[in-house]
Amino acid sequence: MTFEIFLVAPPGLEPVLAEEAQAAGFEGVATLPGGVTITGGWPEVWRANIALRGATRVLARFTEFRAFHLAQLDKRARKVDWAGVLRPDVPVRVEATTKGSKIYHAGAATQRIERAIREELGTSIAKDAPVQIKARIDDNLVTLSVDTSGESLHKRGHKLFTGKAPIRETMAALLLRQMGFTGAEPLVDPMCGSGTFVIEAAEIALGLLPGRDRAFAFEQLASHDPTAVAALRTSPPRDTDLRFYGFDRDQGAIKGAGENAARAGVQDVTVFARAAVSDLARPSGPPGLVMVNPPYGGRIGDRKPLFALYGALGEALRARFSGWRVGIVTNDGGLAKATGLPFLPPGPPVAHGGLTVKLYRTDPL
Ligand SMILES: C[S@@+](CC[C@H](N)C(=O)[O-])C[C@H]1O[C@@H](n2cnc3c(N)ncnc32)[C@H](O)[C@@H]1O
Repeated sequence: MTFEIFLVAPPGLEPVLAEEAQAAGFEGVATLPGGVTITGGWPEVWRANIALRGATRVLARFTEFRAFHLAQLDKRARKVDWAGVLRPDVPVRVEATTKGSKIYHAGAATQRIERAIREELGTSIAKDAPVQIKARIDDNLVTLSVDTSGESLHKRGHKLFTGKAPIRETMAALLLRQMGFTGAEPLVDPMCGSGTFVIEAAEIALGLLPGRDRAFAFEQLASHDPTAVAALRTSPPRDTDLRFYGFDRDQGAIKGAGENAARAGVQDVTVFARAAVSDLARPSGPPGLVMVNPPYGGRIGDRKPLFALYGALGEALRARFSGWRVGIVTNDGGLAKATGLPFLPPGPPVAHGGLTVKLYRTDPL
């Protein structure tokens, strides 16, 4: 059985996720607003959840049919092969949206689909159910998907310390990919907070799968095959001589980031130390990538002192990081400019926690 699989992406980074899906060997990769579609069956659903670093969640679009009125939706929803997807003993919830369709009442549509599942399969409906069915009714076409991820995939299961304004792992991974990072060079994050860039980079270098440790909603579905999934969770271990460095002036951040790295099992290749950007030192060894998201304009603190901070960051990098590439993620082009770094044209706007950020990249300094 194959169907369309929708990989939700952080808005603005869809093409980067498409690249990742392509590189991971998925088929039928196409970029859409809000995500990427691939084609496959349940094994591809499992692998996308476990192996893709950039996807926010994975939706399996297991069937579609036309419905022009609620009675027709009711009849056709009852004919769906629910037993092929859901388990009678695992509660489910349904969320419907409708657009440009004769069925315009999403609540009524939800209720018909819930009733069909309850009466045809015997599955109970609960608001806090671990499995969610999404029904999208667009131009009278009903597309049924099951959310196979559960908790958002940026939760790898290791970052218990989050610090101030952490970046999501999924977004961090896509931005690293945009910088051309493959795990073959060292990385420095001079304002590492909870250590997201550093830990993602170390995991990439060690060939660790992002979903190796967490639970997924697909484990609660009828198609779940624990032996096949266990095999997908393990990857051939890779070693690296490289190191991935995180600095921050906040001792609490350094302690928390170190603990996050230990939980992720990357403590041997990561180094966290307290330092202000003005004291930032270049690690010995080959040049690599500096990746940083400094405090944002308008989110933490005032904009004015931030000019000095971005200026100090730029000065340290220009003085001591020749040969390194720099990627700065910020919501404020004026602050980026204050670094005095020779940026290439910025990346597209990316939605991030109510802000719009861009990636400012340099070639090797
Ligand atoms: C937006 S947060 C970074 C979040 C991080 N990317 C994460 O995922 O958790 C900015 C960080 O810059 C640090 N910071 C602010 N001023 C600094 C300075 N002068 N030197 C070093 N770090 C600084 C803050 O302590 C904070 O952790």
